[in-house]
Amino acid sequence: MRSLGAVVAVLSLAFWGCEKKAAPAPAPTKAPEVAAAPAESDTILIGEVGSLTGSEAAFGISTKNGIALAVEEANAAGGVKGKKLEVRVYDDQSKPEEAANATTRLITQDKVKVVLGEVASSNSLAMAPIAQEKKVPMITPSSTNPKVTEVGDYIFRVCFIDPFQGFVMAKYARDELKFGKVAILKDVKSAYSVGLAEVFERKFTEMGGKIVATESYSKGDSDFRAQLTALKKQKAEGIYVPGYYNDVGIIARQAKELGVKAVMMGGDGWDSDKLFELGGAAVEGAFVSNHYSAEDPSPVVQNFITKYKAKFGSVPDSLAALGYDSAQVAIEAMKRAPDLSGPALRDAIAQTKDFQGVAGKISLDDKRNAVKPAVVLKVKDGKFAYVATVNP
Ligand code: PHE
Repeated sequence: MRSLGAVVAVLSLAFWGCEKKAAPAPAPTKAPEVAAAPAESDTILIGEVGSLTGSEAAFGISTKNGIALAVEEANAAGGVKGKKLEVRVYDDQSKPEEAANATTRLITQDKVKVVLGEVASSNSLAMAPIAQEKKVPMITPSSTNPKVTEVGDYIFRVCFIDPFQGFVMAKYARDELKFGKVAILKDVKSAYSVGLAEVFERKFTEMGGKIVATESYSKGDSDFRAQLTALKKQKAEGIYVPGYYNDVGIIARQAKELGVKAVMMGGDGWDSDKLFELGGAAVEGAFVSNHYSAEDPSPVVQNFITKYKAKFGSVPDSLAALGYDSAQVAIEAMKRAPDLSGPALRDAIAQTKDFQGVAGKISLDDKRNAVKPAVVLKVKDGKFAYVATVNP
């Protein structure tokens, strides 16, 4: 009885399925096809992978806003090749495995022309081999670990890389802050943190400074007291923490509680207003290297800030600026490319030269990295204040 019931169900389903499919046949109208074809070719799909939820949600949200603004402007100006642009964004929950899944889905299922993302280098490293294999260009707005673009000739970035960023902070610590002894606290789960710590150590040592201690944590830890206590004993003048805002905020707070007097230093990963919520007074006086300063008086920066504020109600961070820049570079390349096939678009992106982005002028070198200045910022009154610009 049971199996018969199942067979009947399957049969009727199959029949129903057939009927549903066959239904338009008796009426010989081409209407559905005609309607479907232009709808598809009317838009150019841009893929985006971002951390919209999870530990680094602030990164993904700012980036998404920046990209949305660039695409909205491009559409208002007539789109690309007579077509409107549309962004399909998937949330990777701040996890590399999910970033990889999202990339596969965007490319094989949605057939996007280009993939924008990710922010965190570990996530971009999980995505890049897929884009490379499928020959769909990927542009990371803000991943700075050198290995990301080394994956292959379809992988680009519109930001500088960590060997430069690490040099910038080492030089500032040595030349301006006059530090001789610095300790390092790095996140061993993050390709970005490990790579940046290594560069900083090498450069700072080459400049005559000394790394007196190195301690580690893993993304998502909540108690850093053991490491901070060990570092405190070394009497370093500065502590370099190349991590992300969510961990850094807590690290700064616990350091303060333990009476650590050393000046905290970091990189672009600190960039989010959330840092000030989490770290409060404990992050005051810290120094970071970053991609852009909202205090930059140049019209490109100030116009962007005005438009962004009007749309999203906050001052854009460097993630938003770089998200905007990455979308602009992709769109501009789409306009120049003879067609939007992977190889054609890849070639057009590779030729990006002197493109005026919000976070500096973008010229891609033969390794598909942008070569551009960095800024040094100081945390002052719960904000990042501009201190200096360092050229490559
Ligand atoms: N550079 C970081 C990384 O590669 C990401 C980041 C960029 C974070 C800019 C904040 C601001 O992981």
